[in-house]
Amino acid sequence: MPTVRGHGSTYANAKAGMAGGAAAPDFDDSEWGSVTLPHDFASFQLPEESANVSQGYRKRGIGWYRSLIRLDEADHGKHIELQLDGISTLATVWFNGSQVGHVWSGYNSVYIDLTPFATYGEALNSLVIRADAVAMQGWWYEGAGIYRNTWLVKREQVHIVTDGVFAHPVFADGRWSIPLEVTLYNIRKRAQQVQVESVLIDAAGKTVARFSAPAEVGVLARQVVNGSMRVDSPNLWSLEERNLYSVRTRVLQDGKLLDEVTTRCGFRTQRFDPERGFFLNDQHVKLQGVCIHQDHAGVGVAVPYGVLDYRLRRLKELGVNAIRCAHNAQDKRFYELCDELGFLVMDENRMFNPAPEHMEELIWLVRCHRNHPSIILWSVFNEEPSQGTEQGYEMVRRMTAAVRALDTSRPTTAAMNFGQFEPVNAAQAVDVAGFNYQYPSYEAFHQKFPNVPMTSSEDVCGYQTRGAYLTVPEKHIFASYDDDAASWGTTHRVGWKAIAEKPYVAGAFVWTGFDYHGEPSPYEWPSNSSFFGIMDLCGFEKNAFWLHQAQWRKEPVLQLAPHWNWAGREGQPIMVMALHNMDEVEVFLNGRSYGRQKGDIYEMNRWQVPYAPGKLSAVGYRGGKVAKRFEIETTGEPVALKLTPDRGFMLGDGLDAQPFKVEALDAKGRHVPLAQHQIVFKADGGDIIGLGNGDPNDITSEKGDTRALFNGLAQVIVQTREGTAGTLKLSASAPGLKTGVLHVDVRKAQPWAYQATSQPVQSIGGWRSSPVDPAPIDPNLRAGGTDMNSWGWITPGTKAKPAEQTGYVLYAAEGWLFSRVRKHGGRLEFVEVTGPCQVFIDGRKIGEKTTDAPGPLQMAFPPGLDKFRVSVLCPVKAGQAHGLSGVVRLWSIS
Ligand code: GAL
Repeated sequence: MPTVRGHGSTYANAKAGMAGGAAAPDFDDSEWGSVTLPHDFASFQLPEESANVSQGYRKRGIGWYRSLIRLDEADHGKHIELQLDGISTLATVWFNGSQVGHVWSGYNSVYIDLTPFATYGEALNSLVIRADAVAMQGWWYEGAGIYRNTWLVKREQVHIVTDGVFAHPVFADGRWSIPLEVTLYNIRKRAQQVQVESVLIDAAGKTVARFSAPAEVGVLARQVVNGSMRVDSPNLWSLEERNLYSVRTRVLQDGKLLDEVTTRCGFRTQRFDPERGFFLNDQHVKLQGVCIHQDHAGVGVAVPYGVLDYRLRRLKELGVNAIRCAHNAQDKRFYELCDELGFLVMDENRMFNPAPEHMEELIWLVRCHRNHPSIILWSVFNEEPSQGTEQGYEMVRRMTAAVRALDTSRPTTAAMNFGQFEPVNAAQAVDVAGFNYQYPSYEAFHQKFPNVPMTSSEDVCGYQTRGAYLTVPEKHIFASYDDDAASWGTTHRVGWKAIAEKPYVAGAFVWTGFDYHGEPSPYEWPSNSSFFGIMDLCGFEKNAFWLHQAQWRKEPVLQLAPHWNWAGREGQPIMVMALHNMDEVEVFLNGRSYGRQKGDIYEMNRWQVPYAPGKLSAVGYRGGKVAKRFEIETTGEPVALKLTPDRGFMLGDGLDAQPFKVEALDAKGRHVPLAQHQIVFKADGGDIIGLGNGDPNDITSEKGDTRALFNGLAQVIVQTREGTAGTLKLSASAPGLKTGVLHVDVRKAQPWAYQATSQPVQSIGGWRSSPVDPAPIDPNLRAGGTDMNSWGWITPGTKAKPAEQTGYVLYAAEGWLFSRVRKHGGRLEFVEVTGPCQVFIDGRKIGEKTTDAPGPLQMAFPPGLDKFRVSVLCPVKAGQAHGLSGVVRLWSIS
């Protein structure tokens, strides 16, 4: 933003639509690069030691995004709303030179009404977003820029506001019903009578309940319509059967449909019991939860939905039934997937602050997510220093009151890491006491407050490096035997036992499901991502995965650690660990037994087995019968690379993306666990958008086309191209290995409705018009210095008006030229001029229109100028329309 100097520009700077610098509609962005949203500009940075450790050593900064948006004439009169789903971290938004929004949260959506600022037809609208990622709201990797979706929503003048339908079923007095709340808005010039109709539709498409009511919506006013739908014996939503219903709400006027919104809901009850924990539909469910941040290898926080889906399916496979959104709202799609896949969600607010701007964030969180059956808890904060004080209590009290005003069906909580025993503390202002770590306090709290339900909100903090079985502190490597943990936490085994055996603790939320960029505790450079994950940054399993899978899933699980490639260690004992849920397990090396042990679901079982190459195997028994076998072999040298997709097809919509696993195989096709080859990837018919390997100490780029295997694995994320169908060909190669090649079916998909950014074009605005003069006016004449009044301001594109007198009018605008026009010249376009005119640049005539009728006018614009003054001299006749009735713009020649 330039320093404003001089009276004229200071005056203009204070006016609506007159933002300066890069916020100005006519700012020269002709040489800026193009980006595709969602976009995380921190993910493109190499880790640098001078950058912030918590943010994964990626440089942050301020990013400006500019776009020109065309709205059809047909949209004129509609309600136009901009929806920004997530910008890291703070943002300022300008539309047509007016500041239209400040975004104070790096995690929430904001909805901005653009209607009064919008122009239609030829005049392009300027949208500018300044993303301030110098600011931070977390101590983990937060990404930078417009990292979630951005929508332009066009609605009828009387419509349902965004997040304006609340339809979460409740069970009371032995009956199911859906209390309905529909919020309408009206931008017409008179109050409107409308009819609101909601129907409940089951999975088979059958309408099972209806509601209808008239409503009057005042002018520029919100109107809430309340109602209810009774439903007899609905199919319940549960973790096993995710029965979802749709509520279709319509706004009608004289039979005409004005707006329609479909929301989803699920019928289920929930309860936190102070003695027995959590109940869903009156069935006890121990929360087998994980905390997650939102980033992924290669893509940072701009996670494509295909990758998000992969992550959640990985958690499902692990046996997770609950997810805590640490420590902020996730993408909207996340909650839909939780409804569909069956997770219980502890949703969490980011900024602990009941001041109005931040309270709005909490209100948004609840309004936006409260229809999701998956949500079971609203968490107002995580680990706040004031949590054990009166101030902390008073802040929480206000925040939980705001939550309860919007939803009484789920309890509130706060994730506290101390303070629950203070005389006044935050736990007293929530419904469920949340414990981060502090295992010894569970029992003490339960004894002291036997009527307060409680859950762990965060636990474990174990350290593991995927595929590593020796802890090497100087190399920042942790063995994956689950023997290392943070001082405030425990290993996975100790953590789960502490919770599993206490029925009054509703459940666990392990820190964390996946590794995340940043917070490489306990190390620093070059470590740049966490060691806490049950899975690594790519979603590849560490041993904690099999461990919890064995504890959390009923199906037989039996897995041995480590790999069996220990050349050079022949005869030396190797610790073998079985991760299983068997009654007994027996381990063999090359057919020789090393003992049958009674299974321990918490501790798991270990053997010391002297190393010899060959086959390490295990047999698991349940009830004395073989229930599961596992074996692993010493492999040969790698000879080939293999690529494995997450799914067999992709959509050719330019947004679908999926992760591919690459691994090295030996001559017998066996996975080689220690391969560390540098791989080069090539995608034909798609784009590589990120790379990863799960090594927290790797400081090479996560973009480009090359990445090393880390302990045998790497991942490449490929996105389709818009409008494509056919085959995506992906290859992975490394010197000395047979190239891995994969063909993936790309299916034709509905194109997404989105706005392509136009070619660099400078809209010439800021026009002044002289008073009518009987004689031709000197085209060099300027609206003088401090004179704000005798020359008027005009907006080209508005309907030409008749002149009051006969004579001449001079229109003038001035400014700096886009650098492309300076270098190469351009094309000056008057989309429509009414009446004749002559056009001058710096007093030199460059074009002319002789006809009276409205019409276009175009001319070449010379290169070599910096600042310019365009003047248009118009002979006018009293009573006859004249003027710049179309927009004026200057196209760059590319
Ligand atoms: C917790 C905190 C998490 C993370 C974790 C590991 O105290 O809530 O955000 O920092 O420790 O260090």
